[in-house]
Order: sequence, then C-alpha cells, then structure tokens
Amino acid sequence: MITLDPRGAEHPGHVRPNAGEAGLGYLFLPQAWGFGYAAEACAAALYWFADALPGEPVVLCTQTANDRAMRLAAKLGFTEVERFEEYGAEQWFGVWPPVTPSG
Ligand SMILES: CC(C)(COP(=O)(O)OP(=O)(O)OC[C@H]1O[C@@H](n2cnc3c(N)ncnc32)[C@H](O)[C@@H]1OP(=O)(O)O)[C@@H](O)C(=O)NCCC(=O)NCCS
Repeated sequence: MITLDPRGAEHPGHVRPNAGEAGLGYLFLPQAWGFGYAAEACAAALYWFADALPGEPVVLCTQTANDRAMRLAAKLGFTEVERFEEYGAEQWFGVWPPVTPSG
C-alpha cells in the first residue's frame, strides 16, 4: 500500500504554514520486502504527484528505529527537516523534493 494523505495540523512536523501537506506512507507485506518493490512503487507515485501538482512538497514521517523505512526514505531522495518525539518514539520528518537553500 502506498498512500498520499494530507498531514493533519495536530501532528508536529510541517513545511507549510497551514499544514495539510501531502504525506507519503508505505506498507508492504513482509514477504514482499527486500526486492525493491516499495522503492519502485513509491518513486512512481512521487513522480505522478509531481506531475499532477507541480511544486507541491511531499512529506514523510517515520520512526528513526525503522531501518527499512529510513533506508527507503533516503533512497527516494527525502531530506531531513527535523526529528521529534511522537507515539513514545523518535520520529524522522523529511521532505521531497529536497529543499535547497535559497540565495
Ligand atoms: C518500509 C518498507 C516498505 C520497506 O520495504 P523494502 O522492501 O525494504 O524497501 P525497498 O523496496 O527499498 O527494497 C530494498 C531492498 O530490496 C533489495 N533489492 C533486491 N532486488 C532489488 C532490485 N532489483 N532493485 C532494488 N532493490 C532490490 C535491496 O537490496 C534492499 O534490500 P536490503 O534492505 O536487504 O538492503 C517495508 O519494510 C514495510 O512495509 N514495513 C512495514 C511498514 C512500515 O514500517 N512503514 C513505514 C511506516 S512510516
């Protein structure tokens, strides 16, 4: 399952003042891990999104302890915005495409 849902204002972690950014989620059955399927499916969804809504960022939040999810975020080109505590664990919050410093 690949999801793109608006990120609720009640959560920490935002790149837009009014929240509601598109948040990427990924959930595959364990027997489908380790073949690159999630990376391929997420990349397709991200490029579809970039074409449908040009210039709109996609955000992603995952536990730092989730090694596979962290590796996938990096592979897709998400860059870290901040880390915070939620659900009793450290969360990694990133954005795609990568934010480049202006000026
Ligand atoms: C997060 C999740 C989607 C990652 O799945 P994944 O299969 O590890 O991710 P990828 O599609 O990037 O596959 C990468 C692996 O495929 C391997 N692979 C094998 N053949 C490949 C190919 N042809 N191309 C690319 N990668 C390939 C890579 O080497 C890598 O293996 P490794 O992790 O042992 O180094 C999966 O672990 C999951 O569903 N977890 C539960 C839900 C969850 O935690 N979601 C995140 C919550 S925010």
